[in-house]
Amino acid sequence: MSAAPTSAASAPAEPISAPPTTAGPIAPPCEALFPPVAERERIDDYLTRELARAQARIVQGSAMPTLAMDAFRDELARFDFAVPRPLKSLLDWSIPVLEHGIVHLTHPRYFGLFNPNPSFPAQCADRIVGSFNPQVASSATSPAAVALEAHVIRMVGRRAGFPLHSGGHFTSGGSEANYTALLCALTRAHPEFATDGARAFPGPPVFYTSKECHRSWVKIAHQAGIGRSAARLVATDGTGRMSISALAAAIAADRASGCVPVLIVASAGTTNAGMIDPLGGCADLAQRHGLWYHVDAAWGGAMIASEKLRGALDGLERADSATIDAHKWFATTMGCGMFLVRDASTPSAVFQVTASYMPSHESSVDPYMNSAQWSRRFLGLRLFLSLAAAGWSGHGAHIERAVEQTARIRRGIEARGYSVVNDSPLAVLTVVPPPRLGDPRTVVERVLKSGRAWVSLARFEEQDVVRICVTHGETSEQDLSILIDALTHF
Ligand SMILES: Cc1ncc(COP(=O)(O)O)c(C=O)c1O
Repeated sequence: MSAAPTSAASAPAEPISAPPTTAGPIAPPCEALFPPVAERERIDDYLTRELARAQARIVQGSAMPTLAMDAFRDELARFDFAVPRPLKSLLDWSIPVLEHGIVHLTHPRYFGLFNPNPSFPAQCADRIVGSFNPQVASSATSPAAVALEAHVIRMVGRRAGFPLHSGGHFTSGGSEANYTALLCALTRAHPEFATDGARAFPGPPVFYTSKECHRSWVKIAHQAGIGRSAARLVATDGTGRMSISALAAAIAADRASGCVPVLIVASAGTTNAGMIDPLGGCADLAQRHGLWYHVDAAWGGAMIASEKLRGALDGLERADSATIDAHKWFATTMGCGMFLVRDASTPSAVFQVTASYMPSHESSVDPYMNSAQWSRRFLGLRLFLSLAAAGWSGHGAHIERAVEQTARIRRGIEARGYSVVNDSPLAVLTVVPPPRLGDPRTVVERVLKSGRAWVSLARFEEQDVVRICVTHGETSEQDLSILIDALTHF
């Protein structure tokens, strides 16, 4: 590491002017907010120890919240913030609130909604970032953080098969990344969308995704000002994958009625069932009709890490843009998505803006000129530290382990009469119990009541299913047995 610049140190010292005499001494900093360094260290050490103890208890306890919520609401109501309380007592209050008041993603039998047990490097990154609190809107303010994020995005894009000049940025999650894709598609279709909004189009703009898509797409259509009905939810082929013939027919029908198709969205890992739409077929249609092509690989995209399994994502490399959430299968802490884009210059055409007070104005570099957010947290360090510490191979092994565990769960429950109704290469099963155990809703309720594991109820291809997703990197053989037992013995 090179030494810090010395020019400031060698400059002649300015004479210190006397403070204004009439105003009296300035008030000291608020000590509750900014305690002395020794006190901070003491509390930091205490927190580290207490959090480790809480996590050890969670692994042994219920995956479900056990807090009596009525009593908790009463307790909350007493916080009127009139009288300050000692921080340590507040920490002693907060840790049990989380220990007993949430579904535990850190429980090894949380077979849940793509939310991970966060990797330790990602947690370290949060701690570092929380301490420095860089403002990552501008490259002048946080040059190292902006460069690091751009590097991670480029490397992930390259791994996904995008070309050298690809780009993108970190987002709050998959929804923001998907929203960014829609804005790119609308602006590329009609650059006047930037100034005139939907009025720029000769007819209503519309886009296509499957009826199994993540419902963020419906909200996003609303947010973008083109209306929820602009999200055309295309039929699937009966196995949870978008039907290419239904997609082609929908585009033709919209064109004939004066609508303006702008975007095709393929899901690479549907939320309910981990199904991968025909990525090549969608790319062909997008190319034929001159539409933007986005792959929503919010969860499944992490499969690029596995040499053995990444072939399931063939066709991803043909997309104009993609969503991959680091806070899903890359196992970072929450609030860490990625928008990847084939042509790095596209987002600046969407988010360009001038603000005289900002310290830099590089449209190709500055996050505030390239993305939906303005003030932004330094998210990229989480994935940087995870990838740097484990390598692609470590992340690949994490993915392969989950897929292998999914296969074992499948064998275990099929032997007990369950039917698996999805055929995903990823780590999620949608299953129907044998009639003797009751319907999926009853089974899920019983499992959750037992607290032994967390699974969810979902709908897949018009039927209720029990959804089981392996998300926790430390789930053991014994945990799988307990899950299988919880699903079959009540
Ligand atoms: C396929 C898909 N896309 C988008 C999202 C939304 O991501 P986020 O919750 O990070 O906004 C999800 C969330 O599960 C998803 O599964």
